[in-house]
Amino acid sequence: MSNSWPIHGGRLRPLLARFGLPQDQPMLDFSANINPLGPPGWLIAQLGAWLGDVATSLGRYPDPDDCSAEQAIAKYNGVGAEQVLVTNGGIEAIFLAAALHSRPRAGQRALIITPTFAEYARACAHYGLAVTTLVLEADPQAGHAAPMLLNVEAVERAMPGCALVFICRPNNPTGSLVPKAAIQRLLDVADRHGTTLVVDEAFIDFTPQDEALTDLLGRYSNLILLRSMTKFYAVPGLRLGYLLAAKETRRHLAERQMSWSVNALAKALVVPLLSDVDYAARTHAWLDTERSFPERLAKLGFVVPPSHANFYLLGDIGNGQTLPDASEALMEFLLQRGFVARHTHNFAGLDGHWLRLALHESAANRQLFGALEEWKSQRHQIREGRV
Ligand SMILES: Cc1ncc(COP(=O)(O)O)c(C=O)c1O
Repeated sequence: MSNSWPIHGGRLRPLLARFGLPQDQPMLDFSANINPLGPPGWLIAQLGAWLGDVATSLGRYPDPDDCSAEQAIAKYNGVGAEQVLVTNGGIEAIFLAAALHSRPRAGQRALIITPTFAEYARACAHYGLAVTTLVLEADPQAGHAAPMLLNVEAVERAMPGCALVFICRPNNPTGSLVPKAAIQRLLDVADRHGTTLVVDEAFIDFTPQDEALTDLLGRYSNLILLRSMTKFYAVPGLRLGYLLAAKETRRHLAERQMSWSVNALAKALVVPLLSDVDYAARTHAWLDTERSFPERLAKLGFVVPPSHANFYLLGDIGNGQTLPDASEALMEFLLQRGFVARHTHNFAGLDGHWLRLALHESAANRQLFGALEEWKSQRHQIREGRV
């Protein structure tokens, strides 16, 4: 049953249809890894007034000489404005990075560290760039089979002939975070091979400490950082992201960007979003409270590998292994109770054996906990032959 799963989270209709469940059931969505606080309150409250202002500008193209968004992003990240390119969501940043080598030399390819976000492979395919993958490895110390560890030597060995290496950090869907030192080592090797390292930091704002790689941009011209404002500010409909790179690389990428790809409203919201320190503080306070929630699920007997992001993998054990059948049955069980989990069928290396769940606010997490407790108790009764 691994075909035709929706390739992104938050696709409720096809999921309910797949399991023959009614479409109008109220659902708590744990499949989309978006800040559950929702967009900053002022955004909704002021949208009418904003739209009024922006509406007057809709009769014109967004001003290509207005650099206020780039300047705000540069200030926020401590880089130069000439290193910033605002994009139509993180997705456009991914496609632009792939476009950098849209006319690959013979044998040139991209290396993608998997399991990871499916859009890197899509972007490479779009630009005719062949892809090889390297699967993260299970940590023998960790007591679970989730592929979480980057084998740096294996990446180094695979590097010759690679135009690009895509690494997602923290990684969607595992939540694992390649250490900064490993990235730095890879950047040195990449430099010798003429390889560009593309690090997708779409979830970096959720990491506990300042883990971003921004400070490496000054030292490595072969580093491109991809960012999304979607997840942290809970604005997926706005389509707002950006990339950071060396000045020359940024110029090459800008040449490949579709003209006026970022709309006036999205651009106008960059400054107020990045200035909203209260929203960022509230998000981190929520995360500090809820970060240990997955450990509570582990105590119920689920396998929950450590995550550095606002989502985590969850596996259920059958005969000593996480089994796709168990995760599919669990997914259906949760859907019936009004909880949407993210399947992992289209993440090579996970192959449906796990579910991905987003962290929510505590009330919703408690409800999910109750359902998972019920699942465990039912399974126990089945094993004991009581049902
Ligand atoms: C790792 C990663 N990068 C980028 C994106 C794209 O984000 P955006 O909505 O800003 O295009 C996603 C969306 O799920 C993602 O998971």
